[in-house]
Amino acid sequence: MNLADSSLSSPILDYLRFLHAKYATLDEGAVATYIPELAKADPSLFGICLVTADGQIYEVGDSQHHFTIQSISKPFVYGMALEDKTRTEVFTKIGVEPTGEAFNAISLEPGTGRPRNPMINAGAIAAAGQIAGKSQNTRLQRILDTFSLYAGREVELDSSVYQSESDTGHRNRAIGYMLRNFDILTEDPLPVVDLYFKQCSLSVTCRDLAIMGATLANHGVNPVTGRRAIRGEYVESVLSVMASCGMYDYAGEWIYRVGMPAKSGVAGGIVAVLPGQLGIGIYSPPLDVRGNSVRGIKVCDDLSRHFDLHLFNSPHTSSSVVRLEFNGSEVNSSRVRTLEEASLLRTAGRSILVLQLQGNLVFSTAEVVVREAMKDLGNRRFIILDLKRTLVVNESTCRLFHQLLLKLASSGIKLIFTHIFRAPMLRRYMKAKLGENWTTMFHFFDDNDPALEWCENHLLAELQPNHPVEASATHSEYDMLEGLKPDEVSIVSRLFVRQQYRKGSVVVNAGDAARELFVLARGTVSVTVTLASGMQKRLATFSPGMAFGEMALLDESPRSAVVMADTDVECDLLPIEAFEKLEDTHPHIKIVLLRNLARHLSTKLRKANREVSIFDY
Ligand code: DON
Repeated sequence: MNLADSSLSSPILDYLRFLHAKYATLDEGAVATYIPELAKADPSLFGICLVTADGQIYEVGDSQHHFTIQSISKPFVYGMALEDKTRTEVFTKIGVEPTGEAFNAISLEPGTGRPRNPMINAGAIAAAGQIAGKSQNTRLQRILDTFSLYAGREVELDSSVYQSESDTGHRNRAIGYMLRNFDILTEDPLPVVDLYFKQCSLSVTCRDLAIMGATLANHGVNPVTGRRAIRGEYVESVLSVMASCGMYDYAGEWIYRVGMPAKSGVAGGIVAVLPGQLGIGIYSPPLDVRGNSVRGIKVCDDLSRHFDLHLFNSPHTSSSVVRLEFNGSEVNSSRVRTLEEASLLRTAGRSILVLQLQGNLVFSTAEVVVREAMKDLGNRRFIILDLKRTLVVNESTCRLFHQLLLKLASSGIKLIFTHIFRAPMLRRYMKAKLGENWTTMFHFFDDNDPALEWCENHLLAELQPNHPVEASATHSEYDMLEGLKPDEVSIVSRLFVRQQYRKGSVVVNAGDAARELFVLARGTVSVTVTLASGMQKRLATFSPGMAFGEMALLDESPRSAVVMADTDVECDLLPIEAFEKLEDTHPHIKIVLLRNLARHLSTKLRKANREVSIFDY
């Protein structure tokens, strides 16, 4: 959505409008004329656009006026060359050193003839020569397709500018021949120079430039369309040459003052990128002596100052990477435990550490996680890293977590990951590194709850080695009948109605009328609710002897959650009417039942209070 439409304009839009008004009347610089078609540009045209890394667009002025991309095409084509050839291969053909010279300087490395960087014309022509494709048309189509992915719309060639540049591009042809002379180009240079003229003549707007910049800021994925324009691992290389060479002989002062990788074009465009945050596009034809848009430079300078966009002025975020830390005695799984199990876990649960992580997992934040995880390992048995609120998990983090997993395993401590879907690279990395041990050493779950239950089950299996997992329970073992004498148990037993449920069937549906209490005689059931996200959230899992649906007896409100049979299940149902009648027939039994139900509910309430105090929602 374009925020210009909303009634209350955003402060960001207000500031862009302020900058536009501030520089619209600036009468400095001159429109480029060495490519005749460019000389026709209206010097008063002026557009500013800022696009965030999640696709929000702020634009003012002539942000949708078309002009040719010119040298701004160079970093994007360089990225394509890296994708089509290897980094090493491209590096043998094109350097990455700033020249401090003008864009069209014939600046080749002595001896090798290698252009110093891909941002000067020589390097850009060399890069065009690296693009995959059997014919020039295939190569051109690949460039058009890639630029369309970056811009999020179909990008076309401005044939009149192309023709104008082709008619006057003798210097670039000379550069092409120099590159052929040094085998930087290994084919006839003219078709390659022609391809370079075409990439420079692609018709864009400053809105396109901002979206293309935001795509680089979003690690190669267009935040407006969600489509990938370049493989993530090459983004750092494109941004590096933009930072060091993108503004030619103004690159030093630019990175010093503005602090963002950027690229200017002779038609008056500038694209700037703040990695992870935003892309900026500016269009204003009048250029300064170095060939950069006068208004463009000033706007970027002010934006960087006003919004603290300088790359090297980023606050360190590492300390906040651990959003929440708790152990398995503070928060239990939703598996409802017997009183004995619950008391065992109150102590043993301390050996389970859960670190809820947030934000980007890069070296500085992963280092904090590793340091936190390796603290007080004394009686630690399980460490759960919850990735639910993480954004990026980069390779150095995968490396560190792999090392951490091995170190902890050597001390008998299991490292477990939850919400692993947030980190596909970590999963792949561990699989590659752990090989056949992957299944036994790499533990991951989609949610903290099953992970906590898994740890608890391991602890209980160790603490109760001979404790059979109860597949069924007799009436005298029912926890809601605790405290009743055998004859009283028989009285209640006669009130029960036995029901069977197949594995996977619905025992209770949310919204159903609540007419009875359930006690599990055999098998297990799980209570789930559907979250706003549509995800299913498990609230509890009950084992034989445990009661559920007890609220029906207390407030008769419709069922608030779904109960599914995890296994084939047998339940004893106590109808409300039968329960009510006990008041007259066996008031003591009713009191004992109510006391047990109240104890049951207070246990749940205490658990919920404990978790609320930890999760501070
Ligand atoms: O090769 C040229 O001269 C033009 N197609 C591109 C030059 C350019 O954009 C320089 N940028 N400031």
